[in-house]
Amino acid sequence: TGRFTYDPGFTSTASCESGLTYIDGAEGVLLHRGYPIGQLAEQSSFMEVAYLLLNKELPSKDELDRFNWTITRHTMVHEQLAQFFRGFRRDAHPMAIMCGVVGALSAFYHDSTDITDPHQRMVASHRLIAKMPTIAAMAYKYSIGQPFLYPQNDLSYTGNFLRMTFGVPAEEYAVDPVIEKALDRIFILHADHEQNASTSTVRLAGSSGANPFACIAAGIACLWGPAHGGANEAALNMLREIGTPERIPEYIARAKNKDDPFRLMGFGHRVYKNYDPRATVMQQTVRDVFKAMNVQDPVFETALRLEEIALNDDYFIEKKLFPNVDFYSGVVLSAIGFPTSMFTALFALARTVGWVAQWNEMISDPAQKIGRPRQLYTGPTQRDYVPVDKR
Ligand code: CMC
Repeated sequence: TGRFTYDPGFTSTASCESGLTYIDGAEGVLLHRGYPIGQLAEQSSFMEVAYLLLNKELPSKDELDRFNWTITRHTMVHEQLAQFFRGFRRDAHPMAIMCGVVGALSAFYHDSTDITDPHQRMVASHRLIAKMPTIAAMAYKYSIGQPFLYPQNDLSYTGNFLRMTFGVPAEEYAVDPVIEKALDRIFILHADHEQNASTSTVRLAGSSGANPFACIAAGIACLWGPAHGGANEAALNMLREIGTPERIPEYIARAKNKDDPFRLMGFGHRVYKNYDPRATVMQQTVRDVFKAMNVQDPVFETALRLEEIALNDDYFIEKKLFPNVDFYSGVVLSAIGFPTSMFTALFALARTVGWVAQWNEMISDPAQKIGRPRQLYTGPTQRDYVPVDKR
């Protein structure tokens, strides 16, 4: 390959050093700053995990209280930002709105964009973590024609988001603690995942010294794709299309057919060649939420049966394809009441924590340089320009 290593899709290139997240894909292990994801999902809270990712250690009680207070202080968005929503068509995809509105934050918060100042970087990070639920809820409210709700700061991060999404000004909204806990856990599962496509995008955008709010907008754009964060929406749509367990073999056959572009959504992963540990927690979360809400959804039965059939099929065994985080997340988000179009926006909300933590780590790294991949040129060799009337 000449002077450069050719590595399409960066399957074997480390782009940075990072102390945030460790994945052992063969064993199905995921650690944040050394702590197993299963323990964090069971025992921690999303705010605590956010603190851990940003500040390297779990907080003391005081530190956690202060962090919660700081995030709470930043939950409101500038009043003028509400105008941006009205520029979108009502049927705009929430991710289209998120790309635009989060990017627009860069025009509002100039006092936190000197990236050479660690304090300003932290303020920008807190603002992004705090404002994402407000913006995501506003995107939803706009799509259904209901008024925006201001944040209510005596609620938890996740409770506040639930109220801004499902509450209306005419009524008190009581946050259901089981739903709050389940959604908080889903946020933990999505908080960070080392150098995935959207995180690498945030790092690459940030490597030029770009405005942090714009960098996160770049991450949102990348996350939207169905091979990445868009898979949760695609997975539930697929499960609903399959409808009943009897139709599963037809879809398995399609996924195995090389002439058919169809893939089992929520299956397979670049790094995990074993069960994605997040999928294990997510499957349990489905059971918890269904039990608490006393609901059933045949789509869950279809998902369980599809998993069982795929995991016993030679194609999936040979290629080491297992359910990933997105396979069950749609089932539970749908039970909570989110429309499929909001799923990826929720992923973006949670992943903002990882994005800002990775961005801070990059900027403080003395080895940091602008990201500038090289290429293997395959175009024509030098030739002379021919005027248009001679062509
Ligand atoms: N269904 C059927 N076949 C698959 C699937 C699937 N879901 N995933 C991979 N394969 C096959 C693929 O056809 C290829 O076969 P072959 O070697 O014969 O060409 C082989 O497995 C390896 O796939 P790949 O595309 O080279 O692997 P990758 O590491 O580039 O892609 C992936 C990883 C996640 C994009 C892919 O598995 C996929 O498209 N899955 C469905 C989408 C999805 O669930 N994405 C969410 C990922 S986890 C959360 C996130 O990152 O946002």
